[in-house]
Parts: sequence; C-alpha cells; structure tokens
Amino acid sequence: MAGLFATKSLTAILEEAQETGDQTLRRALGPGHLIALGIGSIIGTGIFVLTGTASAHHAGPAIMLSFILAGVACVFAGLCYAEFASMIPVSGSAYTYGYATFGEFVAWIIGWDLVLEYGLGAATVASGWSGYVLSLLQDFGILLPPRLAGAPGTVFLLYKGHWERSTAQLQKALEFSHVDPAGLPHQYASFNLFGFIGVLLVTAVLVVGIKESVTLNSVVVIIKLCVLLIFIGIGANYIMGHRPEAVANWTPFLPANTGHFGDFGWSGIARAAGIIFFAYIGFDQVSMAAQESKNPTRDMPIGILGSLAICTVIYILVTAVLTGLVKYTSLDAPAPIAAAIEITGVSWGSRLVKLGAICGLSSAMVVTLLGQSRIFFSMSRDGLLPKWASVVHPRFRTPYISTIVIGLCVASVAALTPINVISELVSIGTLLAFIIVCGGVWILRRRGSAVPRSFVAPWVPFTPLTGIVISLLMMMSLGWESWARLFIWLGIGLIIYFAYGRKHSKVQLRNAD
Ligand code: ALA
Repeated sequence: MAGLFATKSLTAILEEAQETGDQTLRRALGPGHLIALGIGSIIGTGIFVLTGTASAHHAGPAIMLSFILAGVACVFAGLCYAEFASMIPVSGSAYTYGYATFGEFVAWIIGWDLVLEYGLGAATVASGWSGYVLSLLQDFGILLPPRLAGAPGTVFLLYKGHWERSTAQLQKALEFSHVDPAGLPHQYASFNLFGFIGVLLVTAVLVVGIKESVTLNSVVVIIKLCVLLIFIGIGANYIMGHRPEAVANWTPFLPANTGHFGDFGWSGIARAAGIIFFAYIGFDQVSMAAQESKNPTRDMPIGILGSLAICTVIYILVTAVLTGLVKYTSLDAPAPIAAAIEITGVSWGSRLVKLGAICGLSSAMVVTLLGQSRIFFSMSRDGLLPKWASVVHPRFRTPYISTIVIGLCVASVAALTPINVISELVSIGTLLAFIIVCGGVWILRRRGSAVPRSFVAPWVPFTPLTGIVISLLMMMSLGWESWARLFIWLGIGLIIYFAYGRKHSKVQLRNAD
C-alpha cells in the first residue's frame, strides 16, 4: 500500500531533465515562443463560440464581469503552475508535480485525467474548427454532403436549397417564417470528415518537429490576435459613431434573474463564468513545453502568466464590443463574433473573422496535441506506460509513435462524438488538475522543500487554497453527467494502472531493490 504513495524525488526528476542525447527532446523555445504557445492554446472555441451562448442565456452584457471572474480564478492556479514550472521544468507538468508531492498513485490519476484536458480538448477544438471550415466553404458555394459534415446524431435540414445544421437558431428562424421543420427533407450526419482531417494534419506537423510546430503556431497566433484586434477596432469605431444604439444594447447591463439559479442576475454571472472558463484553458499547457525551453526556470512563469494576462485583456475587450454591437438576446449563434461584425457594414469582416477562427482553432489543436504526447512521454519514461510512448524519432527528435497513436484516437473522437458531450468533460478534468497543482504547491511549502525556484507564488497558503476553492466551485457548477463520466474515465485508468503501470513503474522497481 505504501508503494502507492511512493514519491519520485525532485533530485531524480531534475537529473532526468538535464539528460542529453538523441532520446531527449530538443531545447529550442524562448520566452516569445512560450507566450505564443499559451495564447495558441487559450484562444479558441471559448471566445469564438461559447461567449455568445453564455451571454444570451446567463449573463447578458455582464458577461464582461464573468470573464473578469473566470480570469481572476485562473490567476490563482496560474501562479501555482508558474512556481512549479520554474522549480520542476520537465515535460510532464501537473503529472510530474503530482509525482513529486503526492506520490505515484495520485500522479497516475492526474496523468490519466490530463487526457481529458489535452486529448479530448483537442477533439473539442477540432469539432469547432470543422464547423468554421464548413461555414467558410459554404460562403464560397462549396458544400459537403451532410453525412460527412458532423458527428453522428447531428441533423441537417434542406432549407432554401442549402443543407443547414439543425440548431436552436435555425428552428427559431423557421418558426418566424412559419415553416414546419418536420416538412423539410433531413439527413443525419455520421462522420465529421473535417474534424478528422484537421487532427491528422496537425499530427503530421507535430511529428516533424517541435521547432516547426511552434513556428507554425507563432505565425497562426499572430493572425488570430490580429483578427481579434481588428474586430475590437472596427467594433469600437462603430460604437463611437452609434453611441445611443450601443448604450441601448448594454442596457440592462445585468438583466434581472428569471427566478432560476444561473439565469441572469448575479447567479447568472457565476454560471456564465463556469461556462466560459473553457475559454481560459490552455495557459497551464505552457508548462508542458518546459523540457523544450532554452531557459525554463526564467521563461516558464513569463509564458504562463504572460499569455494568461494578454488573453484576459483581449477577452474583456472582445465581450465589451460584442455586447455593444448586438443585443445579448440575439447572441445565441454558432459564430457570434462573425455575425456581430456584419452589423458594422464592413463587408469583408465576417469572412475575416471566420478565417481568424479557423487559424485560432488550428493553433489550439497544435498545442493541445503537443501537450498530450508529452504527458505520455513522461509517463512512459517512468514505466507507467509502455516504452513505445517515449521512443523519440532519431532525426525529428519528437515522440513520434505516441504522437501518431494519439492523433488517430483524437481524430476518431472528433469525427464521431458531438462537441457538447465532450466540452464539459474537458473543463472538469482541467479543474481537477488545477486542484492537485494548487495543493502540491502548498504541500511543498509546508515540507520546506529547499529546491530553488526562480518564481515564488505570493501569499501561500491563501493563493493555492483560493485556487482550490474556486476550482471546486466551478466543478460543482457542471452537471452530474460530467461527474459520472469523470469517474468512469478514472475507473478505466485505475484498471490500467494496476494491470500494467504498477508492475513496470521505475520508482516501484527501484524501491523493491
Ligand atoms: N481555451 C480553449 C478554447 O477556448 C480550450 O478553445
């Protein structure tokens, strides 16, 4: 039993991180790359899709406050991640921090749990990406057969000569035009082809190399930042010229609660914060690249906290402009930002936003898949997963086998699973990781660990404890189905651990000698 809580010593972890040779990862990343990695994974489906829904159903224009609340919540976890990443700069992130503080059993749970954040996260982003690709292609008259345009269960209706995805928004439009949806030809989708292809393309890039992946990511990040800044600029300019309209859209700023918890009012701000928390996921993924960073002790905190700060400011500005341009009641659309810019009369705006979303979601896929392969790399190095997961390609110096296996699995999930089923699971898995990381920082401080760190989280234990409480509250705001799926996933993980990991763990074997 004691073996379950065997910890891996910090000295051993740091020695492994210093190893060199053709079976190690290449140190190629500077602080700019790391901030770009963070922004690359943070800005994605959350801001481009979920903001509209959360504003329309829960917070109204006060969605700005929800973004501030969720951003502040992430800062507490971000400070703990920054301390850990500057102290234990290895590629396993929360998994390795768990190994050093809570022992192998918790490390396994967290490593397995991170598959939800990274693997399923990438699948969620791929679903959103395919939606934008289809929409842009449709603008150019290119249509995909409905069967290949979505995950099983997605319904398409033939309306005005186009196959349209059956959404609440389409149903409303049909109702308004007195068209009975039951009378329209319909087809069920069976495979999300673009979701599948998108993941495979990103996998190919990741196999070729970290430098190439990160260079591509940096280019894409600049594009998506420009698109969001252009949206803010055009929108703010329009608002300045149409102040009464904007003031009317922002009024009431905090719509009165409808009598149900979470439907507007102050509880609505909290509920919306729980939903748009998804938009912030990704800053923690910078820590995954620690072993590929040139100077991790200095640059990890810069990458984590820098990307979080930049995205928080951008998100608040985007939501201020969005709710000023469009009445919140009309924001429940699949592409709310693209729809909002149409109001300004800038004809190319909508296509530009779609293009930006496609770029943004591509880079989010790159970073999340990169993180997933690095977690398996670390777990395999520790003997908890089979050896193939840490075999590094002799020329590209990337863990190519695990990257390809993960790519195929994630592509299949993206092609076959509806986005709404997986996105909450991503959030709950990420929040569990936050709790363990915050708890780990507190425990190490109590133990008085002498390992030097270039960044020290302020106000311990207040910071980690607040991070834990806020993460728990957000987990509780998610449905019981997500909790059930989380426990089933962790249960499968335990079976694998006891059947394989425990018997092959290097720490266990060393302790048995
Ligand atoms: N933060 C990422 C997104 O919004 C997960 O897509």
